[in-house]
Amino acid sequence: MNKKEERIKELKEKIKNYNEYYYGENQSLISDLEYDKLLEELEILEGKHPQYRMFDSPTLQVGSSLSNTKFKKIKHKKPMLSLSNSYNINEIDNFIKRIEKNIYRERNYGEKLSYILEVKLDGLSISVIYKDGELVQAVTRGDGKIGEDVTENIMQIKSIPHFLNEKLDLEVRGEVVLPLSKFEQINRERLDNGEEVFANPRNAASGTLRQLDAKIVKKRELDCYFYFLVDPLKYNLNSHEEVLAFIKSKGLKITNIGEKITTVEELDERIKYWGEERTKLDYETDGMVIKVNEIKFWDLLGNTTKSPRWAIAYKFPAKQVSTKLLDITWQVGRTGKVTPVAELEEVEVSGSRVKRASLHNFDEILRKDIKIGDRVFIEKAAEIIPQVVKPIKEMRTGDEKEIIPPTKCPVCHSNLEKEEGLVDLKCTNRHCRAKTQGKIEYFVSRDGMNIIGFGQKIVEKFLELGLIKNITDIYDLKNHREKIENLDKMGEKSVDNIINSIEESKNRDYSKVLYSLGIPEVGKFLANLLAEKTKNIDILMNMKKEQLLEINGVGEKVANSIYDFFRNEENIAMINKLKNIGINFSLGNESKIEENIFENKTFLATGKLEHFSRNEIKEEIEKFGGKNLSAVSKKLDFLIVGEAAGSKLQKAKEIPSIKIITEEEFFQMVKEKNKK
Ligand code: IVH
Repeated sequence: MNKKEERIKELKEKIKNYNEYYYGENQSLISDLEYDKLLEELEILEGKHPQYRMFDSPTLQVGSSLSNTKFKKIKHKKPMLSLSNSYNINEIDNFIKRIEKNIYRERNYGEKLSYILEVKLDGLSISVIYKDGELVQAVTRGDGKIGEDVTENIMQIKSIPHFLNEKLDLEVRGEVVLPLSKFEQINRERLDNGEEVFANPRNAASGTLRQLDAKIVKKRELDCYFYFLVDPLKYNLNSHEEVLAFIKSKGLKITNIGEKITTVEELDERIKYWGEERTKLDYETDGMVIKVNEIKFWDLLGNTTKSPRWAIAYKFPAKQVSTKLLDITWQVGRTGKVTPVAELEEVEVSGSRVKRASLHNFDEILRKDIKIGDRVFIEKAAEIIPQVVKPIKEMRTGDEKEIIPPTKCPVCHSNLEKEEGLVDLKCTNRHCRAKTQGKIEYFVSRDGMNIIGFGQKIVEKFLELGLIKNITDIYDLKNHREKIENLDKMGEKSVDNIINSIEESKNRDYSKVLYSLGIPEVGKFLANLLAEKTKNIDILMNMKKEQLLEINGVGEKVANSIYDFFRNEENIAMINKLKNIGINFSLGNESKIEENIFENKTFLATGKLEHFSRNEIKEEIEKFGGKNLSAVSKKLDFLIVGEAAGSKLQKAKEIPSIKIITEEEFFQMVKEKNKK
C-alpha cells in the first residue's frame, strides 16, 4: 500500500469511529471543526486518487450507518441531506460568489438574489409525514437515505401537532431539541440519582428520542422546530420565506428567526449579532444557516452527494477542541507555588493557536484522571487562558503514562512541600530564581507599576545578566544604559522608553504600589481597599492582626498574610529602599489631572476590546469620575465598541444622542481632557 492509500485508510477508519460514537452513542469525541478537517482531507485525497474511493467511504455518507438500530428502517422519499460547513465570512463570500456566477451564467439572470439567514439548531433532524392533515410517520435522518421510524416517540412531543389545521398531505423536516431549561433540570435529576449526566442538550435529545420507552420521551419534554418542506412548488410556494410562513400557518412550530438578506456585508453583521444573541434562546444553536431564498434556483444549483449547493452552514467557533497532551511541565510562580502546565499538540481555539494550557494543581490531574499521551478537550475559560477540560478515555491506546508530581523544585532543585490541608506544592527556597522572576514580573505588570516595555523576556534577560537581582534594582537600571543598549534587539529608543517608564512609575497611585508588592492574597480589589483605609504604608505596616480584621473585606487568611508580609525583614528592607527611591507610599499624592474629567458622563463597553478587560475599562471610567451603565438606553452618553460588537451597538445606533466611539477614541478623550 502506498502512502496516499494508507492515509486514506487511516482517515476512513478514524472518521468511521467518530461517526459510530456520534450517531450510535450520542457522543462527540472531537469538535466539529476537527471532524470537518479530517473529512476535507479525505475528500481531497479521494478526489485526486479516485481509484481509492470505495462505496463505504464516509465522504459518500450522511450520518450513521444504522447497523444496530432498534427501530424499523424506513427509506426516505427524498434523501435527507446535510449542510456543508463554513467557519468564516470569506467562505460565505465564496459560497455567494459561486452561486451568483452559476445563476448568471446559466440563466442570464438580472435580478438580485436574496438569502434567508436562520439559526442552526443543534439537535437531531426529523422528517414528519402528514396524510390528509394527520401525522402518520416520523423518521430520523439515519444515513440520509434510510432512517429510523420514531413515530411513537415523536407523538409525545407537544409542539408537534397530531393534526394540521388543514387536511393536507405534506412532508416537513425540522430539528428535535431539548430546551436548555429542561436539559439542566434533567441533568440535576440524573446527578441526584447517581446516573451519568448528558454532555450536552443534543446528546440528551438524541438519546431520548432514540430509546424505546415513549413515556420517557413525554417526560423529558422535547421540542421541535421545522425549517424545510419537501416539494414546496406543489403548494405554489416560490421562496423559502413563503415556505416558513406556510409551515407556520399549518400549525407547525418555526423558530421565527429567518432574516431576508441580500449582501455579504449584511450577512456578516447579522451573523455577529446572532453570535451574541443566541445565548438568550432556550435551545442550543451551533451556527447559522444561509439559504437561497428563490426556490426556482434550487434545482439549477443542485446537490452534492451530501448537501445542497443552495445552502451553507456557518459554524460558530468551537468552545472546546481536542488535542494531544504531549507532556506536563511544572512552573514556579512568584509565591513558590508549583503548577502543572499541559504541553499540547498545537491547535486553534476560538481563533488563536494554543500549545499550553493550565491545570491548576496536581489534585486536578488526579480528579480528572489525566495521563500523558491522552487526547484531551481544551477550552478557553472566560476567553483568556486555555484550560484542560477532560481526557477522552475512549481513545486511550494503553500507552498513556501516569503523571508523577515532582519532589524537587524544577528551577532551583530545593525540596518542595505541601502545606497542610492545602493542595498546592511549594518551593521552600526563599531565593529561588523563579520566585524572584515572578515577583519582578508582577511588580512591573500593567495592574501594578505598569512599566511599559518591561515584559517577561526582558525580565528574564536582565536577571540572567545580573543587571537586576531584585525589585529595587529596577530603579538603578538608568545607571547601566550602555550595557542595556548593547543587548540584542534593544535599540536606543526602546531603552529610552523603558527608562522613562521606570522613572514615571514613581508617581503611581498608592493602591497600585501596594498591589505591586505582591502580598499574598492581596489582589487589585484588596489593594484599593487597603489604600483607601490606611492612607499610607506606615500605618498598614504597623497594624495588628485584630486591627486588620476590623477592615470590612479583610478575613482571617488575608489578615494573616498581610501581617506576616510586613514582619519579614527582606520585605521591610525592600519597602525602605523603595521609599528612598521616591516611590509613592501614601494616598493623596496622585497627580490631580486624572480626576473627574468624565463627571456626569455615562459609559458602556460592548464587543471584544483590545487593550482592556471589561472590568479594567469600568475601573478606568470610574477613575476619571464617569459612571458605568449596563444597558443601552437614552441615559447612555458613550458606547465604546470593540470587535464583533452586536446587539448593543445595533440598539445604540437607533438613539442619536449616544456617541459611538472606539477604544482608541476613548484613549484620545482621556488624553485631551487631561491636557486641559
Ligand atoms: S436545512 C436540505 N436548516 O443541520 C437542507 N438544517 O449540519 C437541509 N439544521 O441536517 C437542512 N438547523 O439537522 C437546515 N435551520 C436549519 C437547520 C438545519 C439545524 C441541521 C439539520 C441538518 C444539519 C446539517
